[in-house]
Amino acid sequence: KRAVKIGIIGFGTVGRGVYRILTTNQEKLIQRVGIGLEIAGIAVRDLKKPRQISAPQDLFTADPWQLVNDPGIDIIVEVMGGTELARELVLQALRNGKSVITANKDLIAQHGQELFAEADAARVDLLFEASVGGGIPIIRPLKQCLAANNISQVMGIINGTTNYMLTKMTQEGSDYEEVLREAQAMGYAEADPTADVGGFDAARKLAILASIAFHTRITFDQVYVEGITRISAKDITYAREMGYVIKLLGVAKEHEGRVEVRVHPALVPQYHPLAAVNDAFNAIFVRGDAVGDTMFYGRGAGELPTASAVVADIMDAARNINLGNRGRISCTCYEQKEIIPIQE
Ligand code: NDP
Ligand code: HSE
Repeated sequence: KRAVKIGIIGFGTVGRGVYRILTTNQEKLIQRVGIGLEIAGIAVRDLKKPRQISAPQDLFTADPWQLVNDPGIDIIVEVMGGTELARELVLQALRNGKSVITANKDLIAQHGQELFAEADAARVDLLFEASVGGGIPIIRPLKQCLAANNISQVMGIINGTTNYMLTKMTQEGSDYEEVLREAQAMGYAEADPTADVGGFDAARKLAILASIAFHTRITFDQVYVEGITRISAKDITYAREMGYVIKLLGVAKEHEGRVEVRVHPALVPQYHPLAAVNDAFNAIFVRGDAVGDTMFYGRGAGELPTASAVVADIMDAARNINLGNRGRISCTCYEQKEIIPIQE
């Protein structure tokens, strides 16, 4: 049997992590999947840019369409970011019968409905575990492991950049601009970090989680959003004096068909488990009527944690190709639900 061929679009923080894991662990991954895994091409914007890890030059192209339209490629990994070009590339890849893996929450939150319909029609996999919580397993648990439950609440810390910043500002008294630069240097922040500090990245992730958990369609613009841009050193000091830490929380609740979705800074009591979630770690609580409370915790951003989730998706898609079982993890059924407006 020939190896499954993979085209990676993007070789930044996440893309190079995917390359690193696929090449370092290659033999073991192949054993676990039961079929060869071969990187057939890597698309980047700038072919001359110095790279943090080396890969054979002949793999690189500046034309992502070359990978998407290559009949020899089975799986497209979209780790480029953005919504317009990413949407067109992913749609075309699905139409060409390729499985697609993406870490792009903006894309899934904005165009998920259209993309899932296309994946269903083409009977191929569209997997996005890395889009929420970095390396934390949360999409599959919600879709599959907790599928027997009526979920009433999903809440927690779902942005690594702002949690890193708030941790440093709280524990070391660091300056806002300086810690934002640190988070960018660590590869945690989005290309435009306004998405992180403004709460929009968390809102996109919350829209994805709430849509899956409550079997409805919740879009980014239905989420109430307030970021950390107005949090000052004084706020942090006063909170500490009163026995609290400030965390940026995403909260989604459903009660009798009415849904509330909001992202905002919150005062968390120092004894609460969320107060101990520091640096770029994320933690997500899910409450189901059968399972009760569950908590998912781990690194929410960064090269290898995020790539860990992307590569697991690649393995699942490759396994499905090998077994002739693609399109298995399709989208959920959707019910109409009312969104409760949040007043400022
Ligand atoms: P980076 O900015 O580090 O990397 C983006 C990569 O995409 C670069 O290699 C860039 O090329 C390439 N690229 C951009 N535009 C094009 C284009 N038009 N054609 C070909 N290649 C292009 O981003 P990240 O790796 O941090 O993030 C990628 C995605 O993963 C985003 O959707 C992000 O939201 C998501 N994500 C990121 C996490 C993280 O911790 N960083 C965690 C979870 C999800 P070049 O190198 O030449 O500039
Ligand atoms: N910018 C995002 C964060 C990356 O800081 O959480 C992970 O999705």
